[in-house]
Amino acid sequence: MSASGFEPIARAFSPDAVGRAIRLHGWVQGSRSSGGILFVKLRDRTGSVQVTGKRDVLGSESFDATEHVQVEGVIEVDGTIAVDPRAPGGREVRATAIRIVDAGLPFPIFQEQTEEFRLDKRHLVIRSEDHVATFRVKADLLRALRQFLDDEEVLEVTPPVFTGNPAEGGSDAFTIDYFGRPGYLSQTAQLYLEAMLAPHERVYSLTPSFRAEKSRTPRHLTEFQHLEVELAWCDLESMLAFIERMIVAVCHAVAARRPAELKALGRKPEELTTLAAPFPRLTYAAAIERLGRQGFGVSWGADLGTAEERALTLESTTPLFVTHFPRELKAFYMARTPGDPRTVEAADLLAPEGYGEMIGGSCRSTDLVALNERLAEIGGSPAEYEWYLDLRRHGNVPHAGFGLGVERLLRWMLRREHIRETTPFPRTPSRHTP
Ligand code: 4AD
Ligand code: MG
Repeated sequence: MSASGFEPIARAFSPDAVGRAIRLHGWVQGSRSSGGILFVKLRDRTGSVQVTGKRDVLGSESFDATEHVQVEGVIEVDGTIAVDPRAPGGREVRATAIRIVDAGLPFPIFQEQTEEFRLDKRHLVIRSEDHVATFRVKADLLRALRQFLDDEEVLEVTPPVFTGNPAEGGSDAFTIDYFGRPGYLSQTAQLYLEAMLAPHERVYSLTPSFRAEKSRTPRHLTEFQHLEVELAWCDLESMLAFIERMIVAVCHAVAARRPAELKALGRKPEELTTLAAPFPRLTYAAAIERLGRQGFGVSWGADLGTAEERALTLESTTPLFVTHFPRELKAFYMARTPGDPRTVEAADLLAPEGYGEMIGGSCRSTDLVALNERLAEIGGSPAEYEWYLDLRRHGNVPHAGFGLGVERLLRWMLRREHIRETTPFPRTPSRHTP
């Protein structure tokens, strides 16, 4: 029991609770009265319970006031836990006293409202059962990712979000006025992670990344949680094996900790616990060939869009690696494939069931000449990247890394139609409020 005497609602359902007195506080999910009895569904972070109150026990003043408490109003209840087969969960709390903390105004959220209205009222909509379940799963996903990385002896570091140079190419960087000088919101922490490799060898960060992509697709946000990992002495195959271990570990962990939430959101926990490595691999060349047979006209050098990625994994329940992309398609820092100057040693991990890319990674070029050439090709100014090129002059070692879009992974795990359902306050081209 807490200092103030309040107990979590879940305690009302513990085996020895029947007949015991309990003091609760929480939010009203709904209420009605009939024949001098009030029925209130009360919610706290641990669950919900039916509270009943009789007019002759509570007194008319308290009874009438409680009847006027709105959905999402807040009350305190003293009562006794009783068995009632008609109540959800088979228990109810028979109130001896009810105090009102906040009667609330009429709650403006209903099922039938338009998506735009619901996005305007996002600060209230996030109390819905779907959102509550989603953000609990997200918390456990983040916990599982950190746990895995800690077990693999990867050190968490804290790169900046304000940067002086766009790392993934300028086209979708958010530019800012940094006290009169140009600045950017980070698209990736990668270059900073590479700088921290020499002393630590294995580093990761979890930061927001920003992309000024105007594309209104169900998988793009302008701000997303980016988990990025950088590993020294790592080649492509070791990186793919690391990614497989990570995805399998976090799927198993989330399924073990949140089975009820997963089921409520339409995902069978077994579908995550049966996930196993290795994941199939397909080169870009083989992927466009396969897409050609499926009727897509993708020629060498074209990027795989939403439709193409969807087609590659629609029928599969395992993620798929696509590797060795044409180098013009990818960022300047990627290492060329030995023996194949047309491609880079990169891999995207596509989610099963057509959900598309959730990880992008590569071996990093350690070749100063090649890096300068690629920077020139993309119109990057060598002066801006001078600090990054310095890393190749002092303790230059083979290394590889990747970035995971946390909301992309969660979107697949929870089978959400739109990525915005995986983040409480989605940022998209048309919206940065509330
Ligand atoms: O493939 P991307 O652009 O790769 C990088 O930024 C690398 N520098 C990461 C690294 O190697 N450290 O982005 C990585 C992942 C994507 O696979 C995707 O999951 C996610 O970040 N992502 C987005 N998620 C939501 N909305 C967007 N607009 C996203 N853009 C990328
Ligand atoms: Mg990518």
